[in-house]
Amino acid sequence: MQKIAVVILAAGQGTRMRSVLPKVLHTVGHKPMLEHVYDTARAAGAHDIHIVYGFGGHQVRERLAALDAQWVLQAEQRGTGHAVEQALPAIDDDEIVLILYGDVPLVRAATLRHLMSKVSAHGMALMTATLADATGYGRIVRDENGVVQRIVEHKDATQEELTIREVNTGMMAVDAVHLKKWIAALDNDNSQGEFYLTDIIEMAVAEDVRISTIEPSSVDEILGVNNRMQLAEIERHYQLRQARALMEHGVTLRDPARIDVRGTITTGQDVEIDVNVVFDGHVVIGSRVLIGANCIIKDAVIEDDVVIEPHSIIEKSLLGRRAHIGPFARIRPETQLGEDAKIGNFVEVKKAKIGAGSKINHLSYIGDALIGKDVNVGAGTITCNYDGANKHQTVIGDNAFIGSDTQLVAPVEVGAGATIGAGSTICKNAPANQLTLSRAPQKSVENWQRPKKK
Ligand code: UD1
Ligand code: CA
Repeated sequence: MQKIAVVILAAGQGTRMRSVLPKVLHTVGHKPMLEHVYDTARAAGAHDIHIVYGFGGHQVRERLAALDAQWVLQAEQRGTGHAVEQALPAIDDDEIVLILYGDVPLVRAATLRHLMSKVSAHGMALMTATLADATGYGRIVRDENGVVQRIVEHKDATQEELTIREVNTGMMAVDAVHLKKWIAALDNDNSQGEFYLTDIIEMAVAEDVRISTIEPSSVDEILGVNNRMQLAEIERHYQLRQARALMEHGVTLRDPARIDVRGTITTGQDVEIDVNVVFDGHVVIGSRVLIGANCIIKDAVIEDDVVIEPHSIIEKSLLGRRAHIGPFARIRPETQLGEDAKIGNFVEVKKAKIGAGSKINHLSYIGDALIGKDVNVGAGTITCNYDGANKHQTVIGDNAFIGSDTQLVAPVEVGAGATIGAGSTICKNAPANQLTLSRAPQKSVENWQRPKKK
C-alpha cells in the first residue's frame, strides 16, 4: 500500500459567511467543519495530513491545535492549484495525494477509500457528481467515448458546456510525482486570474494518464458551505445521518427530523427518544431509557431503564439505573443520582450525590449535598449552600424525612432517620432518629377584625 498524504484546502476567507470567524471553524454538529474533514481523512487511512490555511490563520491553528496535522500557510489566496502547491515540498514522491476541502464536511471515509482504490500507481481519480443544478461548479467535459478531457470552470464555460450536469466536486487523488510536475506547469490565464488545480486534468490527458471517476453514495457528501443557508442545510443532512445511525442501532426516534446530536452518543437497546431532544458533548445511554420531548442532555451517563420526562436539562451528571427525572428537572454538573432516585418537577440539583431510592419530587434546590438512601425531601426544600463568599455542604443521612419548605443552612448535617418539621430553618445539625423543627409558635387572635377602607 502506498502512503496517503491528504491536503485539505482551507485558506479561503468565506466572505459570504459575513463572519469574523474563518469559514472552516463554523461548526456542524458542534464540531468545526475542518475537523470533520480531518477526522474523515484519518478514518480513510491518511498517513500525513497537510492543512493549507490562510485567512484568520492564527484562529484556525489555535482552535484546532490538537489535530495531528502539518500546517501550511498560503499567505495569498491565488487559487486551488496555488494552494496545493504550498503543501508539495512536504510530500514525498512515493505518496498518493488526496485533495479535500475544509468547507465540504460531509464526505464519507468509505467514499474516499473508493476514490483512492481507483488511483493506479501512475494515474489519477476524480470524484464527480451529477447535479440537477450545476450552477457555480466546474463541469466535467468528456469526449464521445466518455473519457474525461478537462474541467471547465463555470465562469470560463461556453453556453454548451454550461448544460453539462456532471460537476467537479474538487476531491481527487493523484500520485505525487505527477501532481508536482503538473502543478509546476499551471498558469493563471483564465477569467479569475487564479491558478486552477482543475487545469491538471488536461495535462494528464495530454500525457495519456488514465483518469478514473467515481460518484459519492449520496450528494450531501459533496456539498460545500459558502453561506449560512448552506451551513444550516448541511447541519440538517448531518443530523439526519446521526438519526439514521441511532435507529439502525435499535433506538426509536419519534421523529428523525427533530433530534440534534452535537457530539457523540452511544446507546443500548430499545431506547426511545421523543421529539426535539438535543444531545451535546459525549453522552452514554443504557438500554430501555425513555427520553421525553424537549430535553437537553450534555456530557452525561444515563444508565439502564432511566426515565427522563419532558423539558429536562442534564449536564455532566450520572443518572443511575431506574432513576426518574422531570418533567422540568434541571440536573447541573457533578450530580450523581443513585438507582431508583426520583427528581420531580422544578427541582434543580447541582454537585450533589443522591442515594438510591431517594426522592426530591417538587420545587427544590439541592446544591453541594450528600444525600443518603431512601431520603424524602419535601416540596420547596432549599439547601442554602452559599454564604455570599463560599459554598458549604449539606449532608443528609439514610431514611431522613425533610418536611416541605425547609431551608438547610449549610454547613449542616441531618442524621439518619431524622425528621425535619415542615417550614423549618435548620442551622444546626439535626440528630439522627429525632424530630427537629424550628418554627414560630402558631397563635390565633380571637375577635380580630380586618381593617376596613376609610
Ligand atoms: C472549485 C473548483 C470547481 C469545483 C468546486 C467544487 C477549481 C479551480 N475549481 O471551485 O471545479 O466544482 O471547487 O466546490 O479548483 N482555497 C484555498 N486557497 C485558494 C483558493 C481556494 O485554500 O487560493 C480553498 C477554499 O477555501 C475552498 C476550496 O479551496 O475550501 C475551493 O475553493 P473555491 O474558491 O470555493 O473554489 P470554487 O470556485 O468553488
Ligand atoms: Ca466553493
